[in-house]
Order: sequence, then C-alpha cells, then structure tokens
Amino acid sequence: MTLRPSNRKRNAWAVSLLDVQSTDRVLEIGFGPGVAIGELAQRATRGQVVGIDHSETMRAHAARRNAAAIRAARVSLMVASVDDLPDFGGPFDKILAVNNMGMWPDPGLRLKELAGLLRSGGLVAIVSQPRCPGATAETTAAAARQTVELLEAAGFVAFRVETLDLEPPVACVIGSAPPGPPAPTSDNLNSPA
Ligand SMILES: C[S@@+](CC[C@H](N)C(=O)[O-])C[C@H]1O[C@@H](n2cnc3c(N)ncnc32)[C@H](O)[C@@H]1O
Repeated sequence: MTLRPSNRKRNAWAVSLLDVQSTDRVLEIGFGPGVAIGELAQRATRGQVVGIDHSETMRAHAARRNAAAIRAARVSLMVASVDDLPDFGGPFDKILAVNNMGMWPDPGLRLKELAGLLRSGGLVAIVSQPRCPGATAETTAAAARQTVELLEAAGFVAFRVETLDLEPPVACVIGSAPPGPPAPTSDNLNSPA
C-alpha cells in the first residue's frame, strides 16, 4: 500500500482527538499499514495497543512499521475480522477505526459488540473520508450523521464530530460508552444473569 501524506495526516489527527493517556489500553480496527498504531504507541507508553486487521499483508506492513513497540510488548497486531472478534483478555479505554467501518458486515451490530469491549466511559472514534468519485464536504457530513445514528443505536452517548480540512474533508465521530455494565452483545445476550 502506497502511503500518501494525507493518510499520515488523517491518522495522526484521529489519534490526537482520542485523548490517549499513558496507561490506556487501546484497540484499533482495520489498522492497514499501521500509521495510527504507531501514533497510539507513542502516547500509551505504559499501556497497550492492540490492532486487528483481516489482511495478513497489512499485518506484515504494520508489523514492520511498529517493530520496536512490538518487541517491547507494547503493541500486539492480530489477523482477525471485526465480525469475529478474538478474546482480548480485558476491556479497552479507547477504540479507533479509520476508513474501514464502511467495509464491515452489519456495522450496527459490530458497534454494539465494540461497546461491550469498552470500559464504562471509554471512547470510540470512527473516522471516515469518503472515497467515492465527486465526494464533497456534504458527502462527509452525511457520513458523519449516519455514523452518529449507528453509534446512538449501539448505545453510545455524548457525541462529538470533528472535521479535518482535506479534499474531501475527513470526519471523526467520537462517542462515549455509557456508564454502567457493558452493552449487550451477541456473546453475552444469552448468558445467564
Ligand atoms: C482503507 S484501509 C484503512 C487502513 C488504515 N486504517 C488507514 O487509515 O491507513 C481499510 C483497512 O481495513 C481492513 N478491513 C476491512 N474490512 C475489515 C474487517 N471486516 N475486519 C478487519 N479489518 C478489515 C483492510 O484490510 C484495510 O487494512
């Protein structure tokens, strides 16, 4: 994958909005070449950054880019699909997805499952820069509105929408996991109380 300057800029900007703390445990879905993983690892210096991507080719690219942090066990990259999440062994403080929610099967259901992986009050950031021909600022705004609706239906609260002025603009929708126990997922819906 050729890494355009806009890709670096979009990912660095997205991470800067997540208020990552040094002890945070962060999950990135669809990390691609691993630019945001590197930015996250620079911030979560005493925490952990976990990434999943369903492409082994992307995992290999991202692993090369983040080799030192992987050796230091601060970054862990897995080949997995968002519709078949592995056991992560504990909750996350932040979850990020840049330019890939549109590729997920049933994104509404996926977001509910991700809500169940966040600590109470944890943050999710869904970033999109429309890639369709002729995309404009209005295309970006429409994508952001749709993302807010999906996040709201998945139980997230306290939304914030930020825009990065690229061509077309990039939208980042940030939502907070509701206080209280994790949202129901297909895994815990049928568990005994
Ligand atoms: C357009 S790329 C964006 C990569 C990276 N987030 C970035 O902005 O540089 C989309 C990425 O999402 C991954 N992806 C797509 N569908 C996925 C799924 N169902 N589960 C996990 N990863 C997926 C692709 O393999 C690809 O690396």
